[in-house]
Amino acid sequence: MTPVQAPFPQSRPRRLRASPARRALVAETRLAPADLIWPVFVRDGNAVEEPVASMPGVVRRSIDRVVEAAREAADLGIPAICLFPYTGAEQRTADCAEAWNPDNLSNRATRAIKAAVPEIAVMTDVALDPYSDTGHDGFVEGGRIVNDATVEALVKQALAQAEAGADILGPSDMMDGRIGAIRAALEQAGHTDVTIMSYAAKYASAFYGPFRDAVGAASALKGDKKTYQMDPANTDEALRMVARDLSEGADMVMVKPGMPYLDICRRVKAELGAPTFAYQVSGEYAMIRAAALNGWIDGERAMMESLGCFKRAGCDGILSYFAPAAARLMAGG
Ligand code: PBG
Repeated sequence: MTPVQAPFPQSRPRRLRASPARRALVAETRLAPADLIWPVFVRDGNAVEEPVASMPGVVRRSIDRVVEAAREAADLGIPAICLFPYTGAEQRTADCAEAWNPDNLSNRATRAIKAAVPEIAVMTDVALDPYSDTGHDGFVEGGRIVNDATVEALVKQALAQAEAGADILGPSDMMDGRIGAIRAALEQAGHTDVTIMSYAAKYASAFYGPFRDAVGAASALKGDKKTYQMDPANTDEALRMVARDLSEGADMVMVKPGMPYLDICRRVKAELGAPTFAYQVSGEYAMIRAAALNGWIDGERAMMESLGCFKRAGCDGILSYFAPAAARLMAGG
């Protein structure tokens, strides 16, 4: 469709921008709290909220505080919360066994949330990096990330998360074949209703820096993740990854990071038509917050504009550290 417009003076497009009421009537996209998934960092202890230095306004919470956060999110209309455990060096081992411990931090947090706030969907992270002494998402042998042995471990981790009551599993590891293996194991164990949101198009990005700090992986990580995360130069490959993960049993797919990859969001939604989510990652959040704290941009407006761009690009929803602040603003305060 090529829009045609009469020439001036018959056409005055500014009429539609002339008042808030008319702008509201013709707005093509809208952001709502229901579009948001809130990633939160969980740590051990009680009544703890510990600031993450590289993410102003974001804290690591003990489980009791995560439950309070889940309550607040649900009351704001945010449908899902996504858990990332902060793990100290003592929980990081070569065999990553803590990943499938039924009582690990993430699984205990899931059970606590589902008991107290059953209406909110709990999403969990399927990847070995919180539990690995190398900071990688898979096992390392001879300097290489080994795929198939990692997938076996991811299946155990995913089953433990499903047992704990997770509604949505988010494999963020980028190993080949993990979606199919996890889906088959879930079916066999009777977890037929557990949703998989695949981190399908996850790029090897510099924008994850603050996150690695937040989960305690920054100092552990040796080398980079370029042999499993995608090359930022590629577009067609993202479509192949999304199509593959959908064929293996993913229900929803994700593009990550968000703002630097809006072209990928647009193509994924247009060409595959699947539920498509963007992850506005830690570095994106940190940039906006840092500029706002310096008084260089209006933080609230930049936050809302940055979230709105994902709706314009065709995304069904957004994982964002801004979720509660944005939802509060949308609720009028
Ligand atoms: C790792 C994982 C990462 C993020 C989510 N899961 C970092 C990485 O791949 O190193 C990044 C999220 C963010 O930056 O906000 N499994």
